[in-house]
Amino acid sequence: MPNSNVLIIESDGTRADIVASAMQFMGYFPQRWDASLPLDAIAREWRAIYVGGIENASTCEQLMASLDVQASQTLVLVGADSPQLGRLSKVDSAYAAQVEVLDFPLRYERLAEAVRRTPAPRINTSVLRLVGNSAAMGRVNALIRQVSPFDSSVLVLGESGTGKEMVARAIHDCSPRREKPFVAINCGAIPAELLESELFGHEKGAFTGAISTRKGRFEMAEGGTLFLDEIGDMSLPMQVKLLRVLQERMYERVGSNRTQRCDVRIIAATHRNLEAGTAEGRFREDLYYRLSVFPLEMPALREHLEDMPDLISEFNQRLQRRGLGSVRFSGSAMQALRQHTWPGNVRELSNLVERLAILYPNGEVRANDLPEKYRGVQPIDEASGSILRAMLDGQSKPAPTQNRVSLDTEVLLPEGGVDLKDHLADIEVGLIRQALDITDGVVAHAAKLLHMQRTTLVEKLRKYGLQSCCRANETSPQSGTAVA
Ligand SMILES: Nc1ncnc2c1ncn2[C@@H]1O[C@H](COP(=O)(O)OP(=O)(O)OP(=O)(O)O)[C@@H](O)[C@H]1O
Ligand SMILES: [Mg+2]
Repeated sequence: MPNSNVLIIESDGTRADIVASAMQFMGYFPQRWDASLPLDAIAREWRAIYVGGIENASTCEQLMASLDVQASQTLVLVGADSPQLGRLSKVDSAYAAQVEVLDFPLRYERLAEAVRRTPAPRINTSVLRLVGNSAAMGRVNALIRQVSPFDSSVLVLGESGTGKEMVARAIHDCSPRREKPFVAINCGAIPAELLESELFGHEKGAFTGAISTRKGRFEMAEGGTLFLDEIGDMSLPMQVKLLRVLQERMYERVGSNRTQRCDVRIIAATHRNLEAGTAEGRFREDLYYRLSVFPLEMPALREHLEDMPDLISEFNQRLQRRGLGSVRFSGSAMQALRQHTWPGNVRELSNLVERLAILYPNGEVRANDLPEKYRGVQPIDEASGSILRAMLDGQSKPAPTQNRVSLDTEVLLPEGGVDLKDHLADIEVGLIRQALDITDGVVAHAAKLLHMQRTTLVEKLRKYGLQSCCRANETSPQSGTAVA
């Protein structure tokens, strides 16, 4: 169940239900306020708050203040017969600019219109889902908010997978153009000879294969935003044509001499260093300055690792919406993920969460379940692996010093401490896996290596969901030979 994003303050149950279902129909997630709820339970940023039958003016004021309604520009929908209407909508009220009055019986179109006329929402709403409360993402959010209301071109820079396209969409969604189209085109993925007609459209017969007249992306984005992704990969001749449109706001379809005006906001993005590109003659300097009126640099994931739990929860929600299971990470798995350098950034994290959700639907992933490159350094497991191998190579029991190696290997207590139970379980799973690897999945032999009863190992295999690491039928109580 997604987080609620519309709060309904209404003592009349029927009225509350009407508002809630209309909001639900519009794609929002309403929640009713209940005086018995502690403020903590509703203290978050709401997309909209409906105020209807609440008699106590000071409770209402207190609620609005503690929810930071004014600062977060939350839409305040007030019932036309609400006792609070006068206070909230009077000219000198702190909320006056955010108030929309709703008459009853409620008309859906009126509600939709009121919601559309709201001030640009803040970025961290569940509607936009641009996740991140770190300082680095806070700066990005602030820049988005600052630049959204204007038509200035924006150049989003950053490594691959850092969220450049998401930011472009967020700027559009927060801009006065948000009811108009957002059109994206990947300039790097379209062959240079086709890009012109993709951008500006073409007339029928303009070139071989142009069997009908087609609109270009500029025309499709009219009144809205055109997102030029991978602008650094655009050919020099195409850069000249783009520059002209940016300067004159005019273009022609390929094969036509009729000039068309355009009203399109440009947001471009690249993972390349465009400044270096201009120095090397690969990118036109004049175009670079046109595009980078407002540069916005996306941080790499390794620079805002503290957002990882929120990002994972966001990706889990996306998976659930697609009907897939979600996945939890144990403390040690999170610790291992924090040590990874994330060259593919947020996209890499999103792909990993999806992969693990398929492998362990609705389960908990431990450090040892992570794909190898995410596991980081695990000295205990490595040391114990070599002990197990030594045992198989002939020694029935490891030499005392070797045994001590596995226990004394320098595992440094991390700065933030460690969930010891979880960590020990990880070590246990790691050792069991290695024992099964070495013994080709024969449980009886693995149990011998681990100095435990076969039945005890079978129990542990079930507990940790490791049955797939054994040979078929190996975990049934009857199979295998008894071991000491
Ligand atoms: N802050 C964020 N909150 C939620 N999801 C994010 C965030 N940043 C990135 N993502 C997700 O990560 C994936 C990659 O994001 P996006 O496509 O915007 O990155 P990009 O920088 O354009 O990548 P590329 O350079 O590969 O084109 C998408 O699934 C996007 O939804
Ligand atoms: Mg992209």
